[in-house]
Amino acid sequence: MSNPVIRPRRLRTTPALRRLASEIRVHPAELVLPMFVREGNEVMPIQSMPGVVQHSVDSARRAVVAAAEAGIGGVMLFGVPDVRDATGTGATDPNGILNVATRALVDEIGDALVVQTDLCLDEFTDHGHCGVLATDGRVDNDATLLRYSDMAVAQASSGSALLGLSGMMDGQVAAVRSSLDAAGFEDTAVLAYSAKYASAYYGPFREAVASTLVGNRRTYQLDPANRREGVRETQIDIDEGADIVMVKPAGSYLDVLAEVAAMSPVPVWAYQVSGEYAMIEAAAAQGWIDRRRAVEESILSIRRAGADAVLTYWAVELANWLNEER
Ligand code: PBG
Repeated sequence: MSNPVIRPRRLRTTPALRRLASEIRVHPAELVLPMFVREGNEVMPIQSMPGVVQHSVDSARRAVVAAAEAGIGGVMLFGVPDVRDATGTGATDPNGILNVATRALVDEIGDALVVQTDLCLDEFTDHGHCGVLATDGRVDNDATLLRYSDMAVAQASSGSALLGLSGMMDGQVAAVRSSLDAAGFEDTAVLAYSAKYASAYYGPFREAVASTLVGNRRTYQLDPANRREGVRETQIDIDEGADIVMVKPAGSYLDVLAEVAAMSPVPVWAYQVSGEYAMIEAAAAQGWIDRRRAVEESILSIRRAGADAVLTYWAVELANWLNEER
């Protein structure tokens, strides 16, 4: 047997060569931190997401300053209201917690990063669904679009630069775009959660926003079995005017992400969700996995599959690691 002529290992010989041969890298600017903001002055830990809290408005102000110092690209805000009702009134109320928090953080941070908001009713409804219900108990798509349209104007008025449409109603991008434009918010951008799957990995998020949901979201979020449908949903959102599209969850849907990245003319983001966070944290807490390496590898993999930016609860910590490596 002759010795191999082709030796791919050559480029792995030294750290310097490996660094130079690296095909992609992660940069703080392409990380977005999801943040939960509750009413009142207390900061509450989230048991299933160690290290993540429900902020008060004041602690959120401090956190957004730290996020900007770390150089991340943005924060995505979720509101945790005290009172909920059938139509999610708190979502459109200028004094609702999400709108209050948005104004506070924009005031605090200006343009140092992009303040973004989750546009969905589930945090604000007493039944926990992402839309309003018809009399027969089903989620009423078109009635929900009216609520989303009002919510979009409320969020844009509060200073949100990018609205994250996570409700999975048909026609939501077009509805929100036209209400924004009619209200003079032509420059407020839309991030469409296009391929959003009905996933068990959202489990810890339900605790994070104190969700009241009984049942599931399978009549509006995608079946995890469906890759082609994820691509179709993305195409529809692009046609309706989405500025950015997203695949969610990230880690278990890298095939969908790669396919969406190949077809999309607009930026493609991915959301590393609460359950993905919780799994790595739990294994690391047991000493069963190297925490930092697992966090880095999980996010690198999402970038490698084609995400231009990643929403991750480790955004600031990872950015600080990247900053100290340079
Ligand atoms: C809906 C929304 C959810 C998440 C982000 N936006 C919950 C859901 O669809 O059930 C989940 C995020 C996560 O799990 O980290 N407002």
